[in-house]
Amino acid sequence: MSRKVTVIGAGSVGATITYTLAVTGLASEVVVIDINTEKALGEAMDVRQGTPFCAPIKIYAGTYEDAAGSDIVIITSGLPRKAGQSRIDLAQTNVDIIKEIAPEIVKHAPDAVYILVSNPVDVLTYTFCKVSGIPESRVIGSGTLLDTARLRSRLAEYLAISQKSVHAYVLGEHGDSSFVPWSAARVGSANILRHYGEFNIEGAVKAELNTEEIEQYIRTSGGKIIARKGATFYAIAISVCHMVDCVFGSTSRVMTVSSMLHGEYGIDDVCLSIPFVLGSKGICGTVLPTLTDDEVAKLKHSADVLKDVIKQVKL
Ligand code: LAC
Repeated sequence: MSRKVTVIGAGSVGATITYTLAVTGLASEVVVIDINTEKALGEAMDVRQGTPFCAPIKIYAGTYEDAAGSDIVIITSGLPRKAGQSRIDLAQTNVDIIKEIAPEIVKHAPDAVYILVSNPVDVLTYTFCKVSGIPESRVIGSGTLLDTARLRSRLAEYLAISQKSVHAYVLGEHGDSSFVPWSAARVGSANILRHYGEFNIEGAVKAELNTEEIEQYIRTSGGKIIARKGATFYAIAISVCHMVDCVFGSTSRVMTVSSMLHGEYGIDDVCLSIPFVLGSKGICGTVLPTLTDDEVAKLKHSADVLKDVIKQVKL
């Protein structure tokens, strides 16, 4: 079965996604598109030359026409976040880029599942929903999937246990207003907050669980990596490939990705992350935990922050 992916934007994130798609064997064909055609050619060539050691895959730099028949389109175009710059500061510039790209790509890949990755990802996902004409269920932002991965890896360190046993999420904006609904965070089937002190796991940190420290760690991770190495691209690329795996896989999964809300927790007409169900056709449902009043207020605050930005940009 053909698994064709188009990656728009051959910067660090787009190139690393292309590389990860090759190494994991998730795609059978990858088209790399960038306004800087030399850069797209170079990145595609670099990854392609390693593919004799991978599962069969075609990788090439192309045009929007070459995207025809794509099952998934991943949009990474946009200016990256600079050290000290918030994701929201980028909004108008990257909204304009999405508005330019949308009609071009949609013309050639009308049936694809679209994954938005550039920041501010929730605002760009919303923009794409509004301008592309693609059904909302097929427009998905990477959202807080990466934040959730950061949360799970941090909790896994505290608890000396595999991240796979940690069932906890980061919800809301992929940004400063994200938060962890601790009431719904579990290890195995045990609530972390309620039972942390009673967990009997060899090697686990015995000190009290510092939820504030963990949430700060998640919110500041992206900024810290940018300050240290100029950009973040490995973890986001792996997260996006996890979404690709789900779309190409045979079973749907619960994931905190960004998509349009329609009344969930009383929130409407904004894209942000809640536990959506992602499957082969895009978003195919939600699995909503009961949140405390305080957590619902945090989610609504995140929605308000995003709506405020959306109001300020020209869509
Ligand atoms: C990060 C960027 C992708 O959080 O926003 O790493």
